Order: sequence, then C-alpha cells, then structure tokens
Amino acid sequence: MSRIQVLPDFIAHKIAAGEVIERPVSVVKELVENSIDAMATSIEIEIKDGGKEYIRVSDNGHGIHRDDLKVAFLSHATSKIITVDDLFNITSLGFRGEALASIASVSDLVLRSRTRDTLQGYQISFGADDQAVIEPVGMETGTTVEVRRLFYNTPARYKFLKQSPTERRYIVEFVSRIALAHPQIAFKLVADEKLAVRTHGQGELKAALANVFDHRTIKNLVSIDAKTEWGRISGYLSKPSITRKSRQAQLIILNGRIIDSSLVSSAVERAYAGMLAHREYPIFFLNLSMNPTVVDVNVHPAKSQVRFQDDSEVYQEISRACRDALLTSDLSQTITSVKQEPVIHQETQSEQINLDFQEFFPWQPRTWSRVDEFLRSEKRLSNSAASYQSEIAAVEIEQPVKSSVTAREYDGGALVKETPSADVYQVKDQLLNGRIIGQFRQTYIILETDNGLWLLDQHIVHERIIYEFLTRDGAAPHVQQVLPQALEFSSAQAELVAEQLEKLNGFGVELEEFGTNSFLLRGIPQFFASRGISVDEQLILDLVSNLSERNNWREKAAVTLACKSAIKAGQRLSEKQIHSLLVQLADTENPFTCPHGRPIIVRLEDKEIERRFGR
Ligand SMILES: Nc1ncnc2c1ncn2[C@@H]1O[C@H](COP(=O)(O)OP(=O)(O)O)[C@@H](O)[C@H]1O
Ligand SMILES: [Mg+2]
Repeated sequence: MSRIQVLPDFIAHKIAAGEVIERPVSVVKELVENSIDAMATSIEIEIKDGGKEYIRVSDNGHGIHRDDLKVAFLSHATSKIITVDDLFNITSLGFRGEALASIASVSDLVLRSRTRDTLQGYQISFGADDQAVIEPVGMETGTTVEVRRLFYNTPARYKFLKQSPTERRYIVEFVSRIALAHPQIAFKLVADEKLAVRTHGQGELKAALANVFDHRTIKNLVSIDAKTEWGRISGYLSKPSITRKSRQAQLIILNGRIIDSSLVSSAVERAYAGMLAHREYPIFFLNLSMNPTVVDVNVHPAKSQVRFQDDSEVYQEISRACRDALLTSDLSQTITSVKQEPVIHQETQSEQINLDFQEFFPWQPRTWSRVDEFLRSEKRLSNSAASYQSEIAAVEIEQPVKSSVTAREYDGGALVKETPSADVYQVKDQLLNGRIIGQFRQTYIILETDNGLWLLDQHIVHERIIYEFLTRDGAAPHVQQVLPQALEFSSAQAELVAEQLEKLNGFGVELEEFGTNSFLLRGIPQFFASRGISVDEQLILDLVSNLSERNNWREKAAVTLACKSAIKAGQRLSEKQIHSLLVQLADTENPFTCPHGRPIIVRLEDKEIERRFGR
C-alpha cells in the first residue's frame, strides 16, 4: 500500500481536467474504482432513492492510513502515481486524485477506514466549516464511504438529475457491468433495501453475464479467447441471429476499466461482415488486456475514453480474432424455452437488468401445431412474398470454388471454446451426412442429425450459397446471352446506370448504351437464366444503387442478386435438390445466417424434444 501525496503542479497539469461527478452513478463509479484499486475482494454498495439520498460503498481492501485521511481529500492527492512517467503506464483505475475531493465538496461525506496494521479504524467527516474531524471507530480492515444529500449545495446540478428509478437503473447497470469486468470480486448492490446485483467473486463469468444479458442471449454466445501482439482478447460475441438496433448492448473492458470505443466496436462489427443487416449491431462483451504502455487513458476526466498507440493494429487484431471465433463456432440458433432454470445463482434473486435485451423467444409449443405457428411467425420476417414456379435445376448453380483457407489452418491456436456444443466443422458434417426427412410447407428442409432435428429455410440456404459465390474473389458468374431487349430509364437514372456499366458486367448483367436514356440488355447471369428469372429496369436500378455505394458495394449487390434469384418459399424440392443445397451450404464460410443475419438453421435438440414429451 503506497502512501497518499499531493501531486506537484507540473504533473497535475498533465492530467485531463474536468468535473466528473454529474450524477449518483458517477459517485458509485469513483468509489467502486477506489475499492478495486485497494485490492478488495468484496465490495458492497447500498443506495437509497436512486442514490440521491444515500450511497454507501464498503470494501475489504487495504484501507487508508490514519495520517493520510485528510490528505486523501485534497485535490490531486493520490497514492497511485508519483512521477510523470507513471502517467504512461497506468495499472490502476484511478490516478487523478480528484474523486474524493470532488464528492466531498458536493455532499455530506463520511469515510471510515482501517488498515491491516492497526487494531481500530478511523472516521473522517467534515463539519459545517469544512473542518475535518477524525475519530476512532471499531471496524474490520477496509474502507466504507457514505455519501448523503448529494448536490445539496449545487442546486443547478441537482435539477439535472432524472427521476430516482432512472438514476437507480444507471447504478444497477454500472454495477452489473463492472462486476462482469472483475469476476474475482464479489459484488453486492442493494437498492432501496432490495438486492439488485450479486456476484460471488469465484471468477464465474456466466453468473455475472446473467446480470447483463438475458437467457436467450446467453444461450447464443460464442466465446473468444486469443493472444495478440499487445496482450489478449477474451469474452463473448452473440451469434449473428441475435442483434440489436443500437450499440447499447456492447460492453468493452480494457484492463479492468469499462470504456467506450467506436474503434473497438467497429472492429468487432467488421468481423460480422456478410452476416448482419444494415444497422443491426452484434451484442458482445469483450475483455481486452493490453500492455498499459500502448494505451493512453489520460484522455478524458471520466477515463472512459482511451487512445491506442497503434489504432490500425488494434483494429485488425480484434477484427481478426472475432472473425476467427465466429467462423469456427456453431452459429445456429438453439431453441430454448423461456422457463428453463436461470443461469444465475438460485439464492440471489438479482434483478435481471435488461439494458435492451427484453426480447424472448416467442416459442413455447406443446404440440407440433405450435411449431407450425412459430415457423409461420419466423417466416413473416422473411420477404417471401413471391413464389417462383421455375425449374429447380438452377439450384445446382455454378459449383462454388472450394475456399482456400479453412478457419482452422489459421493461426488461431489460442482459441478456447466454451459455450457452443459443436463447432462449424461438426455442423458442416451434419449437413453432409444428416438424413433428409423432407420438406415442411415446401419452405423448410427437415434434417435428422446427430445433434437433433434441424429446420433449414430453403430460401435463405440458397441465398447464402449465391451470396458467397458472388463475393468470392475472382468469381464472375457465367453469362447467358439473351435476345437483346431495350430497357428505358429517366435521364437521371440513365446517367447512373451508364456510370456503373462496368461493375454490372462483372455481375453478369451485360448492358449496352442504346439511344437516349435506354440500354440494350444482351446478357444475364447464368443462374438467372436457368431459373427463368428476368432482369428488368427495377432490378438494374436496385443494383446500380448498391454499386454506387462507396463501401462494400460488391457485398450489397451480391445481397440483392442473391435475394432475387434464390429459390423461394413454397417451392417443392426433390430429395436430390435438397441434397445439392445442403452440400453447397456445407461449402460456405458461414452456413448459419443469411446476409441480413436471419438464421438459416433452427435446431431442436434431442434434450428439448425429450423434455417436452416428459421422457
Ligand atoms: N476504498 C479505498 N481504499 C483504500 N484507499 C482509498 C480508497 N479510496 C480512496 N483511497 C485513497 O485515496 C486516494 C484518493 O482517492 P481519489 O480521490 O479517488 O483519487 P485516485 O483514485 O485518483 O487516486 C487514493 O489514491 C487512495 O490512496
Ligand atoms: Mg479514485
């Protein structure tokens, strides 16, 4: 335990300045960070009225020396750094030496602390004239801070507080998240006399996850654990079928600190390329351990922003590690019933906090007719309005080239699997060797596998196959010459089409300028031709709008073409055709989701079926 000193001005001036105590959760955050820095293994938090009336944080850490009690409340007083160099190698959560001083200046604060080498503790409080009063108290080793009447002397700040339930939710959210970042510490949060968060400090991440993620999300996580140049990445990523409309459900921990980083978020999102729809965001919890000398946390007073020494390296490594984890996992969604026993410890009636994870699987069938209903509701999500009657021979489109690198050859030696029952190779094996039972509603393929009964959406299966084919390097569809046909556009549209002629060609759509505002269609992709799908003005315009996007135009155009040409729901398939689809699906990189993130495979595990039959 180091002693507390006031930093000399020249160091103090190098520290990101600014007020960070904005609301009750800021107090909780600063106090809990102090407890973690004091090597506590147990931290208890109690709040009343959303923290507006009362906040108490108690820990069993190393405590504060009696003679340091007053010093701790001075500005820039800290035991965590001494020299300027320390600022570039920060291993603690705190270092600014400001929190206690700031909190004490806007509240009634009492701190009690006892170090290991004394028989009693000491309490420091502040009289009306702000004079510190120190008295001995009986207590265990550790520190307790009580904060009452927050912002009583700064009415402007008090006015900006939200209703108590909202302030309370911020605190519950924070404690749940910090608990996840520190699985070795037992956390307990009591809000208005009710237990709100509880973890046991046994390093059990799953229990801590249950405070942050709902049951369905937890069942559908892929674990990641990889070494990098600068440290290590571990955590959990959601399967692509489980997404959110915002980044709210993304949690990034860097060296024990909760941070915001759009760089890290976009690196993870990049790993889902081709698996998610536009504006869908994965859910993840990523724990980064990084050599403290390659990251700067002294960027913003709240310490939640960081600056990396080498942005692009961090981005690449995170993206690659996440992509590896996704591509080597079983990404199919597991059907679970809502009523399964919760992952969380039974005796802890922790309130589940659901950031925005409210959504449960709407499926609790007792009979197969309910399965039907479920599937119909799933199907509503797919845009399967039209149903083409053309020959299915086209299912055997150009046999995709075998992908050259399998995920396993990649140097992902550090990958450790935890959750998913089977990896992608097992799934592919089942696709090749499962027994085809048939088709359901001429829409879903039913497959008996070693891992239960699988349902596959035939449209999405085919869509995935075509999409991957079109996005593979050097892939160009065979072109089928057609009777030249004139397509007419408005002059503005024609201009756009003219700009994209070359790219259209690359996708097998051959157009030639033909008088004012019209084009002659001479060739179309073979897989369109053989399925009797025509190319019209609308499809060209859709493609042109994809192709003129600055980013990922190839992927976007491939999505449009795949969706348009894939076999539709309602089309009868022979066993041979189903087999051909499954073989090609097994050859894709990601046999689990359509390019928009909808699931391809829904699994009913033996266990689940048996349970429902009461076996
Ligand atoms: N819970 C605690 N246990 C032990 N020491 C503490 C605790 N809280 C605060 N301290 C001591 O008080 C000092 C000042 O705390 P603070 O104002 O939060 O600044 P910082 O955490 O940035 O150093 C810390 O450096 C630490 O030495
Ligand atoms: Mg601190």
